[in-house]
Amino acid sequence: MIEGASFLFLVGSFLISVYLYYNNTRSNLLSYIKQFQGGKAPSKTAKPTKKYGQERELKITPLYITPEQVKNYDDRPWRPFRWPYHQTMSIFKLDINHWLDMDKYYNHYIEEKRRIWLKYGKENIDWTPGSEDACLELMETVTDHMLERYPLLFTLLEDKGAKGKIVRNELTKETLNMTHPLKQHPLLYVSKMAKEDFYVVLKDKETGTHYMAAAAVPFPGGSFGINSKIGKNIDAIHTDVPYYKEKLQKSMERWFERMEPNDPVERASWYISWDHKLKVNNVYQLPKFNPNLEEQMKSTDPKEFNVRVERQTLRRLPRSRAIIFTNHPVFYSLDEMKDEPLVPSLIKKIIFEGPPDIIKYKNFELFRDHIEPYLDGLIKRQLDKGLITEDTPLKTLPTYPFAHWVKTNFDNTMGWTNPSSDYDKEKANYTEIAKKEIIADNE
Ligand code: HEM
Repeated sequence: MIEGASFLFLVGSFLISVYLYYNNTRSNLLSYIKQFQGGKAPSKTAKPTKKYGQERELKITPLYITPEQVKNYDDRPWRPFRWPYHQTMSIFKLDINHWLDMDKYYNHYIEEKRRIWLKYGKENIDWTPGSEDACLELMETVTDHMLERYPLLFTLLEDKGAKGKIVRNELTKETLNMTHPLKQHPLLYVSKMAKEDFYVVLKDKETGTHYMAAAAVPFPGGSFGINSKIGKNIDAIHTDVPYYKEKLQKSMERWFERMEPNDPVERASWYISWDHKLKVNNVYQLPKFNPNLEEQMKSTDPKEFNVRVERQTLRRLPRSRAIIFTNHPVFYSLDEMKDEPLVPSLIKKIIFEGPPDIIKYKNFELFRDHIEPYLDGLIKRQLDKGLITEDTPLKTLPTYPFAHWVKTNFDNTMGWTNPSSDYDKEKANYTEIAKKEIIADNE
């Protein structure tokens, strides 16, 4: 009798699991397909229709990937190359499921965050008085997001209500006791859960301007340091950004004023380097730390050059009203994009003919002559293969800011798979190479 009941229980559990898995796969795919309906890029965010305090609409769909599956999971293929290239906000509505994306580099990023925190401390993670509530709300929001979105990667061990949660990160095997009184700053817990960099932006009540109140940014890339930006307002932070005053300032201010918790957005910018370092890329390395930089660059096979995409999101937290800006570097080698129509042509066009101040800001002049023959070879290859013709107009991809295969090459447990015949999903993992890359004194 008991054996019969156990059997029925097992069969029942199996059927429920199949149903849940199917439903999850289906709803993820449906929402994904909806997002990219008709092959168009996601529509630009509409003006907010809900007021603060209204019911939140940011529904999270669980993604049932296991720690084992994460090892081969590729993130969305970003290709944020625009031509003509104008400096614009270029923000898109964010499907909240993609707020904190997962991929096979997760453990590498979390380990790097730890190393950078231990070695550089407040150079990369810092906070100012008055940011406490926002940082706490950020920690709670990230915790709930991870638990809901990745139920097999984060386990809730104990929920003490207002006193906080104890969570196990199944990827790093670390138990995070986030009950009060907290033993560490909330930004440090956040850095042990998500691979993104986080900026906490608050509105200064006296001046009405927005400023960087706190930040956990181990991966700035090299063009700036958090210690030079913390506490400053958005305009001061962007002083070195090309065409900021003319093209960005007004629209950003307006956006920050209007943005509500239900209006998360994402965007991406990019640059090129010949390494995978997260803190300071070679292209931004200072000669005093690496006097042989140019020679090293010239002796690097252009195949090993990468586009570093800075994938960013913006959302407002409802309780503290803080704006959370995230940044997440993703590397794509020039080689892995070689069969994507127009990508090599777009990159070549931008690094040689883009707006002069952007060329300078991204240091394109340093390496562009070195990779030009390689890019020319890739363009010829595309012509020979019929992927493009001499008459194909050189302009932003219809699937901007993603690769043309973003809608087709997706699997719920494997993520995205580059369709290139050379791409071997299991071998395509630069973690070990990244670990060996020479680290200069300032990284
Ligand atoms: C819609 C909002 C925003 C837009 C359109 C924007 C745009 C940009 C652009 C175009 C750059 C130059 C980087 C590149 O093109 O590669 C930049 C740099 C930067 N942004 Fe923003 N940004 C936004 C919000 C923020 C926020 C909220 C923060 C955080 C406080 C922030 C912090 C920075 C920093 C630290 C840099 C590097 C500046 C430097 O090189 O000195 N941004 N941003």
